[in-house]
Amino acid sequence: MLEELKKIAAEVKAELVKIKNSDELRDLEVKILGRKGELTTILRQLKDLTSEERQKIGKLANEVKADLAAEFGAIRSRVEGHKQSAKIDLTLPGKAFERGHLHPISQVQYRLEDFFTSLGFIIEDGPELESEYYNFEALNIPANHPARDIQDTFFINEDKKGDPTNRLLLRTQTSPVQIRAMRQYGAPLRVVVPGRCFRYEATDVRHEHTFDQLEGLMVDREITITHLKAVLEAVAHELYGSGTKVRLRPKFYPFVEPGFNGEVSCFLCHGDGCRLCKQSGWLEIFGAGLVHPNVLLAGGLDPKEYSGFAFGFGLNRLVMLQYGIDDIRLFQSGDLRFLEQF
Ligand code: PHE
Repeated sequence: MLEELKKIAAEVKAELVKIKNSDELRDLEVKILGRKGELTTILRQLKDLTSEERQKIGKLANEVKADLAAEFGAIRSRVEGHKQSAKIDLTLPGKAFERGHLHPISQVQYRLEDFFTSLGFIIEDGPELESEYYNFEALNIPANHPARDIQDTFFINEDKKGDPTNRLLLRTQTSPVQIRAMRQYGAPLRVVVPGRCFRYEATDVRHEHTFDQLEGLMVDREITITHLKAVLEAVAHELYGSGTKVRLRPKFYPFVEPGFNGEVSCFLCHGDGCRLCKQSGWLEIFGAGLVHPNVLLAGGLDPKEYSGFAFGFGLNRLVMLQYGIDDIRLFQSGDLRFLEQF
């Protein structure tokens, strides 16, 4: 019986090398390890042996069986792996690598950064978690001033009595970076500040708690409204083409005097009146004005020596007008059906 076992093992190994496909493998497996297989038959005869023999041969028989099972496994992965690789159709077109792209807000932001850099402006960043002092006080909006009411604010700590330099909030505008930039660089100064702002809004199609602005500030000797208008016109031409007109109408912002609402002639109807401009021919884009003397002072500059202009606008609004997007919440939604269109 011992001899028989060894013979089977050797034979099977010789056969296995020749196996070419899974059908041949299955046949051999049934012949050897199947219910009526050669090895199975021998194992069945073990019960007729004396217990001494049974122990000795049984041990060997089990080893042979385990060994063969492993060999079968190895050959199976060889022939079946073969079968699988044969299934690859090299004539099929490849899978395209999906490329991402910039968010539409980033696209317009980078475009404007390049544009302002070409006019000699520097690009600055400021903290989104800002102090109450920079966001309001230094911008000529004292505590209890009604102008605070139009910017619903996320306050981080509400310690009303504490020092406003230490009280934190999520900045409601990019304007606090006007102060930071003046303190850091002094004058003359040309700077733009793109960045995220936050307001404690009940969100709807026109209001979102998180949005993006771009702030501009120029300070030098004898800066006038003429300079402001020229720069806003250059921005309008960059965005909407060289025929675009700009008009300034009075509007109150505490940190400028005088303050303006800057409008551009509608790029869709060129001023004739349409749905986009609500028949007015004009689109409100900019908040702007000449920097208030108190703001220059807070920035460490002497208002008798220097003057400046500042403007700010929402990047979301630019993109919404451009593409006819009717819900501002889409920008933060992470909805690929929206994002993949840009
Ligand atoms: N910070 C103003 C706003 O958020 C915009 C603005 C900037 C107005 C600079 C005037 C000058 O509405």
